[in-house]
Amino acid sequence: MTRRDLFKTSLAVPAAVVAAETAFSGEAPAQTQPPATAASGGGRERLLLDFGWRFHFGHATDMARDFDFRGNFSKTGNFGAVSTLSFDDSDWKAVDLPHDWAIELPFQNDPALSSKGFYPLGRAYPATSVGWYRRIFELPASDAGKRITIEFDAAYREATVIFNGFYIGRHIGGYDPFSVDVTDFATPGGNNVLLVRVDATQSDGWFYEGAGIYRHVWLVKTNPLHVKKWGAFARSEVRNGEATVKIRTELENHGKATPNARVTSTIVDPAGKVVVKAVSAPQSIADWGELVTEQQVVVRTPALWSLEERNLYKLVTEVDHGGAVADRYETPFGIRTCTFDAEKGFFLNGKSVKLKGTCNHQDHAGVGAALPDAVQYFRVRKLQEMGCNALRTSHNPPTPELLNAADELGMLVFDETRMMSSNPEGLAQLENLVRRDRNHPSVFMWSLGNEEGMAGTDKGFLILSEMKAVSTKHDGSRLVSMAPNGGNNMGKFGFAALDVQGYNYADPAADAYHKANPKIPVMGTEQVSAVATRGIYVGDYKLGYVGSYDPYTTTGRASCEGWWSFCNARPWLAGGFIWTGFDYRGEPSPNGWPNINSQYGIIDMCGFPKDSFFYFQSWWTSKPVLHLFPHWNWPGLEGQEIAVWVHSNLDRVELFLNGASLGAKDMKKDSHLAWNVKYTPGAIEARGFKDGKQVLTAKRETAGPAAKLVLTADRKEVSADGEDVAMFAVEVEDAQGRTVPTADNEVSFRVSGEGRVMGVGNGDPTNHEPDPGSSRKAFCGLCMAVVQSSKSAGNITVEASSPGLAASSVTIASKAVKLRPQVAGWEREVPAGTGITGLWRAGGQVFTFHQDASGLTGSVEGGGRGGGGDTPAPIQDGKVDGASISFTAANITYTGTVQGDSIELQRSGGGRGRRAPETPAGPRPVVGPPPDGSDPSNAGFFGLGGGPQAPAPLVLHRTKR
Ligand code: GAL
Repeated sequence: MTRRDLFKTSLAVPAAVVAAETAFSGEAPAQTQPPATAASGGGRERLLLDFGWRFHFGHATDMARDFDFRGNFSKTGNFGAVSTLSFDDSDWKAVDLPHDWAIELPFQNDPALSSKGFYPLGRAYPATSVGWYRRIFELPASDAGKRITIEFDAAYREATVIFNGFYIGRHIGGYDPFSVDVTDFATPGGNNVLLVRVDATQSDGWFYEGAGIYRHVWLVKTNPLHVKKWGAFARSEVRNGEATVKIRTELENHGKATPNARVTSTIVDPAGKVVVKAVSAPQSIADWGELVTEQQVVVRTPALWSLEERNLYKLVTEVDHGGAVADRYETPFGIRTCTFDAEKGFFLNGKSVKLKGTCNHQDHAGVGAALPDAVQYFRVRKLQEMGCNALRTSHNPPTPELLNAADELGMLVFDETRMMSSNPEGLAQLENLVRRDRNHPSVFMWSLGNEEGMAGTDKGFLILSEMKAVSTKHDGSRLVSMAPNGGNNMGKFGFAALDVQGYNYADPAADAYHKANPKIPVMGTEQVSAVATRGIYVGDYKLGYVGSYDPYTTTGRASCEGWWSFCNARPWLAGGFIWTGFDYRGEPSPNGWPNINSQYGIIDMCGFPKDSFFYFQSWWTSKPVLHLFPHWNWPGLEGQEIAVWVHSNLDRVELFLNGASLGAKDMKKDSHLAWNVKYTPGAIEARGFKDGKQVLTAKRETAGPAAKLVLTADRKEVSADGEDVAMFAVEVEDAQGRTVPTADNEVSFRVSGEGRVMGVGNGDPTNHEPDPGSSRKAFCGLCMAVVQSSKSAGNITVEASSPGLAASSVTIASKAVKLRPQVAGWEREVPAGTGITGLWRAGGQVFTFHQDASGLTGSVEGGGRGGGGDTPAPIQDGKVDGASISFTAANITYTGTVQGDSIELQRSGGGRGRRAPETPAGPRPVVGPPPDGSDPSNAGFFGLGGGPQAPAPLVLHRTKR
């Protein structure tokens, strides 16, 4: 019987069972479709624009390798060849978003890159720091008169957006969303070219940030009168069993004045029933004007959002004028109360909740910063498995799907902005964050920054006061705080502007502050910073590994146990946020290269728990926990003492070595148990007792050589939408089914059916194999693959194999689903037929030929200006006679010869060619024009090889795009 079998049995056996920990223990439920923040209706469409992009590296310093980008702002609508429809992007890589190009780069041992996970990004790496993205799509003719907006959930970092050859705008921040209104530049009824240059040269973080369009992009169409982006806000106050919901609606009118704009707000309860409706009085909205309406409704006996019951309401906003619905906008929201009590900590719906939080960055194994939505859900579930109920989005605005996951799965979010500043950029980032996230019930507080030295100054007070005013203006229902350096200035300078005093690490300072200021709420904002390598118990600086016992912290900060015992003993302390839930790339503390990622996580990069995970699971959940470590494979250490630890929340644990008792110990609250055991191969076993009864056992056995792989998936079923993912974990086992804790076999993942491997990982902070790819060494017995569905329903079978080991395979179902509304893919049609029929290219032009015997039809595209003006010109008078070819398009006559897969063409007419040089009459002065006034501006006159010149022939080659 394997440990996995025991796990299955354990579900049915109530008494003493083995404490089972599979690689990804627990079966995740089928993915819920995240709610759209603004669904279709009333002329509004919100289409996912993730699929079918093309990507190419540019260059941060060499213009020739950066598609001639030099700003290109000289004339509107003339950005350059790369922005035109006919531009040849056939050597650009096909990519879907979210996309992070950084993880595709080879690691470089350059200390300057340690914050970037040793990926070559930044000033010293201009060839890999700029990426260009192109996406062509059609807009139907019926879009004429609509507002067309492209919404980017974020890009890392500076994004320059060009649409149909028009420069549209730039956005600098790498984490806050931005949108561009491209209405005036769009071509309804034709093709449209969206071009984005993303420059990741500059950076914000001392941690990995990714590179590229790493979040979703949306195409939004509305009527001229519509709800502004994030323009509906439902703010509720709960009193005496009913909720007063104040609804603010912000309208925008990109057109003629409307005398009678009316807002109907409907609240739909979690069961889908309309509970209340409010209709505003008609109001006039000016030409290109804005209007804000305020409404108030009462929801009786509201179903509150809580960690246990994630009740989500929906606000449906309908805007009409004269009866016609101009817009319909949906906003999910929740009704709950969040309060702080200086003596008793944090309360959700009046119930005390200790914040058992983790800080997290946003990258994950296999995918970098470009997380498919399902990975957000995976991560939230994984954190919940250890009892975590809160997360801090350190140190930047999160992707909206993380908040959807938090709303749906029940996790509180301390939502952090990136730039602590009252400069326009800082305020805009915060405004975006607040407006976007204010309806999420999971978001309980705004974080205005992290460890900003300036917060501890008088200027900091001014800055933070202004930032707080932004949050009050656009929300006003949530308190604000920030994560300060230590605790020295608590309550002083900028911190005096904050509602809740945060502190990073400095537990004694927090204690002292509370004693002196008993009326001010205090919350830990960043704690612990303990480092550990999963599965490693002997630290080795040279190898880059840290032992997994708890006491290792980087800066003498508290251990997991040290902090939690402190926090849990103080009811006034609202809780805290451990640095970090998951490992992340960059900041490879405590070692530099060869470490490429941090080791702060309680969970590794892949989602495999480290030992401390079970410390928190013991004290943060009510399920019985018994976790025994280290492993029991220590050849060469026979007879020497090994520290054996147990994380458990049972009353008493007895330890056995090869069946002989080493004594029982009582578990102290918020603590762990330890024995020193002389190593003998065999098995250590812990037996855990609750109320005098043995309820769990945990065993670590000396494993034999690796014999087989055991593959498991975290989900049985995914959605066939080309977006959903399942995590496939491999455990290397010996012939008896025992995990081989030191195994590092190379594992290959092969997918058949309707899926593909997106990337792989193993949690080893020193591994330099690329994440994109389909093979990875096991690390301490484990590795994994992120597998994504295609858009076709069917089975996904993943096989894991390794030379010399028995392979393992798992099949999951990919179920047909209605795809999210999305922009259709675009490919230039390649005509099929005889002769020269097909697609041809030369000098920025595309020739579409249909040969029918000696007749030739088709079109010529490009070579002209951008601005969407390079619509195809039809071919006229086309003839093919043997090798001879002739035709006219856009007043240019082309004649030439076909030579297999190339065609040489001469052009005439259409203003092409140079004027014949004029021959001056009489003697020419040395300086100035001749006396007859003839034009000297031709090559012949200057003797530069002169004479009338025919344009160089065009040499066409066949192409596929
Ligand atoms: C904190 C900082 C985090 C991380 C951590 C590592 O001071 O806020 O971003 O660097 O230290 O211990």
